[in-house]
Amino acid sequence: MTRSAAAARKEVMSEERRNTHDAQGRDALVEEIARGAGVRAERGRRFAELTSLRVGGVIDWVLSPETESQAASVVGALEDAGVAWRVLGAGSNVLADDREHRYVVVSTREVKGEARFEGERVSVSAGFSLPRLCVEAGRHGLSGIEGLGGIPGTVGGALWMNAGAYEHEIGQVVESVRVARGGRVVEVPGSEVEWKYRHTSFKEGELLLGCTLKLKADDPEKIKARMDEAKRKRFATQPHGARSAGCFFKNPPGSGVSTGRMIDEMGMKGERRGGALVSPVHANFIVTEGQDARASDALALAEEIRERFRREHGIELEYEVELWGADREFRDEGGGVRDEGREAEAESLNVKGENNADDN
Ligand code: EPU
Repeated sequence: MTRSAAAARKEVMSEERRNTHDAQGRDALVEEIARGAGVRAERGRRFAELTSLRVGGVIDWVLSPETESQAASVVGALEDAGVAWRVLGAGSNVLADDREHRYVVVSTREVKGEARFEGERVSVSAGFSLPRLCVEAGRHGLSGIEGLGGIPGTVGGALWMNAGAYEHEIGQVVESVRVARGGRVVEVPGSEVEWKYRHTSFKEGELLLGCTLKLKADDPEKIKARMDEAKRKRFATQPHGARSAGCFFKNPPGSGVSTGRMIDEMGMKGERRGGALVSPVHANFIVTEGQDARASDALALAEEIRERFRREHGIELEYEVELWGADREFRDEGGGVRDEGREAEAESLNVKGENNADDN
């Protein structure tokens, strides 16, 4: 070995030692934070277990608070310690890549609590199931969210992206949202939030803890009939029981056209890349199949759809699902790097002190 090669090797070794040391220090810190907040901390979980697409790599740490205040204090402590974190609800709108994700996932699934009804208002925590909330609201004779009854996510996820279906969007009925900002719980009036098509003005770094909805009194039978009708339509036109993340792409804004119909007309139903295929039921759904399915299969198929859409219609399809890269980029296992291509991914992780103009 030449002198310079030996020196370079030494440098690499000391870099490795430093990284190992940093990782150990960080792990001890995360454990301490979780213990301090009384929150369950797990290692080695995989996105393949925690997302509805059933693909995606290992997660460094998953922290599962059970109450809104635990959730707020745990992310506050992570921020103070400069540890990167992101929030995951039911994982029904996320495609996470196959690599090892070296950040903390704060899961809101256990922040369930109960739906508290008072007059036309209901207060509910982020981890509460959206379909269950819709059913309970209907039973209380409260209308305004019955179209959302078949969306398999949490209330927090629905708020985050302004979930919608069958003429209802959650943003239309939000009176206020409880948000953890810098370790404190802030009550944000719904009127101060921008509720757009599958997008809101909430930013990475803000953890949605729960909300109060203001609904309208109506006959429970009529509400139930509308909910059943929405479910029937959904059942007839969308895959159920399949591993999907709902619609993969947004409909082109202002066009009134359905991306699904256009992908269908391009003849792509049933098209396959590895363990991912365009659903034969609704062409805007990518579903995964089998043990060997990879996030990179779903992404390769999605990019193929976008490419053909661009060529044939001159339209740049926007992702509706969130793409989570293990770092700032979504990379397939072959090592190819892709730009995530979503504005929301610009601030992919929350690291204190990171120079990100859009953060908060
Ligand atoms: N269509 C086809 N082929 C397909 C899919 C649809 O011909 O493969 C036709 C349908 O027959 C219908 C039209 O296209 O005539 C519209 O289809 P659909 O009613 O399914 O509406 P969409 O625009 O494709 C949107 C939302 C869905 C939501 C439904 C119902 C988006 C991207 N999709 O779908 O939301 O459930 O309306 O409100 O906005 C989601 O957000 O994940 C999602 C699935």
